[in-house]
Amino acid sequence: MRIVILENAADLGGYASDRILKRLAAGTLRTLGVATGSSPLSLYKELERRWTPALGALNAFALDEYVGLPPGHPESYASVIRREVTDRLRLDPAKVHVPQGNAPDLAAACAEFEAAIAAAGGIDLQILGIGRNGHIGFNEPTSSLASRTRVKTLMSATRVDNSRFFTDEHQVPRHCVTQGLGTILEAREVLLMAQGAAKAEAIARAVEGPVSSMCPASVLQLHPRATLVIDEEAAQQL
Ligand code: GLP
Repeated sequence: MRIVILENAADLGGYASDRILKRLAAGTLRTLGVATGSSPLSLYKELERRWTPALGALNAFALDEYVGLPPGHPESYASVIRREVTDRLRLDPAKVHVPQGNAPDLAAACAEFEAAIAAAGGIDLQILGIGRNGHIGFNEPTSSLASRTRVKTLMSATRVDNSRFFTDEHQVPRHCVTQGLGTILEAREVLLMAQGAAKAEAIARAVEGPVSSMCPASVLQLHPRATLVIDEEAAQQL
């Protein structure tokens, strides 16, 4: 695990975009795993600024989605990914995949999502954020380290954290669909971005704690090419 500590969010976005553009130029990046949340926004803005046609040709797979939000809901991850990723990076919407949270058969939709990743040749570079409880994607504590894309129940702490995007906590769905920890570990490279003191404990547990399902991000200790790009506040408990 590589830890890169930088001063602020703009620096994080600069570092991550350098990495992506370098791999694009080398021809080793065809499929990008993208994350929602505020942590990767500086990256998407930087990529929009430094856009190249090769960037616009990428396939993209999102990590997760809420279950049961009406189609087109502005806070569904399908909508967030369209606004923050597909539009900014000028991707072909047909090449952007978000797990379905409204399918009549969610288990079948999860299996199809895994099959689509495999058909694309796997994920070359996965962008991640981290929750205060150490979740990645929506893999909450106790998630199996070998898990695949599936339905999960959100913890109340996560629903409280994410209520800032809704009118109140009761509007935040109780369930989600998320790539599993086993799915994420199969990405060829992982880049986790975190900023702010609120993430410091989760970062310390992920880096210095035992590999444990109680801190899902700790599974990245098992990944041969995982980089954590964090600001000084997120690094303060290391
Ligand atoms: C949500 C997402 C995660 C994200 C996390 C942190 O729960 N499902 O993928 O990493 O929020 O969000 P933020 O970056 O806004 O702190």
